[in-house]
Amino acid sequence: MLRKALDQFTRAGESVALVPTMGALHAGHMALVDAGRRRAPRVVVSIFVNPKQFGPNEDLARYPRREAADAQMLSEAGVDILWAPEVEEMYPAGFATNVSVGGVSAVLDGAHRPGHFDGVATVVSKLFGQVRPAVALFGEKDFQQLAVIRRMTADLNLGIEIVGVPTQREDDGLALSSRNIYLDETERARAVALPRALGEAKRGIERGDDPATALAAAVAMLTRAGFDTDYVTLVDAEMLTAPVRGRPARLLAAARIGTTRLIDNIAVTFE
Ligand code: PAJ
Repeated sequence: MLRKALDQFTRAGESVALVPTMGALHAGHMALVDAGRRRAPRVVVSIFVNPKQFGPNEDLARYPRREAADAQMLSEAGVDILWAPEVEEMYPAGFATNVSVGGVSAVLDGAHRPGHFDGVATVVSKLFGQVRPAVALFGEKDFQQLAVIRRMTADLNLGIEIVGVPTQREDDGLALSSRNIYLDETERARAVALPRALGEAKRGIERGDDPATALAAAVAMLTRAGFDTDYVTLVDAEMLTAPVRGRPARLLAAARIGTTRLIDNIAVTFE
């Protein structure tokens, strides 16, 4: 079914933009769809809750699934193909390949979630092979994931243009995420501390404060709001290594509130 439709597009000379997702779609995903529309005549959205990128104690079993609502949103947005393969189709018996990106995968969420980025790189390689898009769109919300995909695509000469789309946020600044539904009312009110702490740290660093001081203040702010912080750090935006003055830098954070782990990031001018 997927193959047949894709062959038709190829015969018509129409290129494809791919938006890989795990479903439970929100306006963040739809911003990727819109960006895809602007870049290619055909847009394919995949929905696959990829077991390989969840750790043993993570939320695979309770990850939100909303097939009907997702399909409705995508059809209203004029998406050409919604592709939702089954686990057995993606990982049939005998599946034995692992795609592991070094460097950018090793730090931050790579250190806190062992195997996570191997799971992401493996499934995205498969999606790229199955759909063979000209362009693929990923959110800056998952900034490290975007860096991993860029690295993999360049290293393996996949010939796919990788486009990063700015993070879509709620009115109070919280980044949209399929995981926000895990937050109860109190946690949701407190969660705004995450974008606020990043914003404060960004302003501090751009004013010339010592980055270490600004980062420590951000952690303190998160702790006051009830978060357990995994990391708040300033890195080089491309390599995710120590920031270099005069190059694009990024402030990244991961923190847990209740049973929910949230991530966010923001660009910083570091001169
Ligand atoms: P998922 O979390 O469903 O996200 C799918 C895409 O939407 C990712 O590229 C993500 O960065 C983007 N996205 C999520 N929230 C966003 C927001 N608030 N603003 C902008 N973009 C946002 O990320 C994954 O799925 C998976 O790891 C996947 C790439 C599909 C591989 O399994």
